[in-house]
Amino acid sequence: MLRMDVVVPEVPLLQTYVDGLDRVLGGGIPKGSTVLIAGTPGTMKTSLILWMMQENGRAHGVKSLYISLEQDMDSLKAGAARMGMGVLHESTVYVLDMGQLRRGLHRAESTKDWFTILTEIVKEAVASSGYQVLAIDSLEALYALSDLKTPRREMFHFLGSLKELGLTTFLIAETPFGSNRLAQWGEDFLADGILHLRQVEVGETEVQLRLRCVKMRWMNHDKNALALHHDGEKFFVSHVISKKK
Ligand SMILES: Nc1ncnc2c1ncn2[C@@H]1O[C@H](COP(=O)(O)OP(=O)(O)OP(=O)(O)O)[C@@H](O)[C@H]1O
Ligand SMILES: [Mg+2]
Repeated sequence: MLRMDVVVPEVPLLQTYVDGLDRVLGGGIPKGSTVLIAGTPGTMKTSLILWMMQENGRAHGVKSLYISLEQDMDSLKAGAARMGMGVLHESTVYVLDMGQLRRGLHRAESTKDWFTILTEIVKEAVASSGYQVLAIDSLEALYALSDLKTPRREMFHFLGSLKELGLTTFLIAETPFGSNRLAQWGEDFLADGILHLRQVEVGETEVQLRLRCVKMRWMNHDKNALALHHDGEKFFVSHVISKKK
């Protein structure tokens, strides 16, 4: 009888540089995928992505573009410095905020939707500077700017255009406290991966930051929640230690 050997192609992976996390993800994040980073306010969504970008730049010369639609560049950079990241060098992590975006727009904003504007800006930036990793912070801010008639369809085309550019894209989604919904318009189904961050009360007084890989296409990842820590210098994950009440 003929035996058909199935050759599974190796997926190039982006390392997270969060101690212990790559192993949980099955090796890392597949390059070229779209990953939703969903979390309640203050769960280190921004810091985590900037950290991955910075470390990939340092270790492999990867260039990243961080589009911040709400928080301005100075406050974002100050936050990164306070988290032990030092100075974010523009040559590796370029932060584009709303102020710069508006100044750089040659066309009238009102005549174009923000999905098209962002697609064009990213295309130009990738062609001229060779970015490989992109973050959009946040989807909610993007929706607030755009007048979306068919959100899911527009999101589908937007993500498709980013994928054509070969980018690994992080989409930051703000989830309200107490909500189980990760995204508004089905981005959780459209995305290749989802990392969910939330604060969990442990016992009477303690709160623990938890990270869970809800999905990561092509990877045999661990689905359990982990505790995410930052020790002033670096990020690391550990097993969740639940306390009896
Ligand atoms: N030096 C530090 N060490 C550990 N944790 C810190 C440090 N500095 C700030 N934090 C925590 O990080 C949080 C802010 O991180 P960050 O801005 O990345 O979160 P975020 O999820 O992007 O927030 P937002 O929802 O406002 O966008 C703070 O609320 C604080 O709890
Ligand atoms: Mg943030």
